[in-house]
Amino acid sequence: MLVAGNWKMNLDLAAARQLTSGVVSAVGTPKGTGVALCPPFVDLDATYSLLHGTGIRLGAQNMHEQDSGAFTGEISAPMLRAVGCHYVILGHSERRQLFDETNESVNKKALQALSHRLVPIVCVGESLEQRDADRHNMVVEEQVRAGLANLEVSSSSEIVVAYEPVWAIGTGRTATPDQVQDMHGHIRSLLQDIFNEAIGSGIDILYGGSVKPGNAAELFERPNVDGGLIGGAALNAEDFAAIVRCAEEAA
Ligand code: 13P
Repeated sequence: MLVAGNWKMNLDLAAARQLTSGVVSAVGTPKGTGVALCPPFVDLDATYSLLHGTGIRLGAQNMHEQDSGAFTGEISAPMLRAVGCHYVILGHSERRQLFDETNESVNKKALQALSHRLVPIVCVGESLEQRDADRHNMVVEEQVRAGLANLEVSSSSEIVVAYEPVWAIGTGRTATPDQVQDMHGHIRSLLQDIFNEAIGSGIDILYGGSVKPGNAAELFERPNVDGGLIGGAALNAEDFAAIVRCAEEAA
C-alpha cells in the first residue's frame, strides 16, 4: 500500500513547510503502508529536511530524461536524488495534456529514473471521450505497454503505476469502486505479462482522481487497489492523514 500526495503547482516554501509539518504530526509513523509527499521542485529540499527520519518519503512531480546539459528549465534524476527524492511521478495526465508528454517520453524518463534508483510512479488513464467510446481498456493498455517498455526491474518495489482517469481528476467525480477494480485488474494482468507473474503481482497500482477521506476506504478495500495518488485532499494535513489511515486499515 502507498498513499502519495501530489501537490501539483501549489504551495510556496513557507506553505510547503507548514503543510509538511502538519502531515508529519497528523500521520505519525506510517504503519504498514508507504506514505509520500510530492511537492513542487523548489520545495523539495525543505520538505525533505522535515520528512527525514519520519518514514514519510519524498517524490517529485516530473523530471527530464537526461542527466544534465543545455535543457533550460529542466530538472534531472541526479538532482532529484541529491535532494532526497525516492519517487518521481511520470506522465501525469496534466503533463500529457498540457505539456505534450507522450508514452515515448514517459518511457525514456522511466528508464532514466530506474537507472538512478528513483522509483517512477507512472500515471495512466483515459479521457471521458475515450471512456464513453468504450476505449478505456485499450488506451490504458497502450500507455502501460509503451510507458513501461524495456524496463529492467528485479523487484516489484522499483516501480509504481497510478491509474488516474482524466475525467475524475479535480472534478469531484470519482470513478466507482467497480470501475476502479476492473481497470486495476486489467493493469495487473498487463504487469504480469510485461514483467513476470511474481513482479507483476507485487507492483503497487494506485488509484487517483478525487480521492477523499469519505471515499478512500471503499476504493482501497478492492482487489488490486494498492493505495492512492491524492491531489486536492493532499493539501490538507488532516484529510491526507485520514486517507493514509484508510490505507493502513485496508493493508
Ligand atoms: P484530485 O485528487 O485533486 O482529483 O487529483 C488527482 C491527481 O491528479 C493526483 O495526481
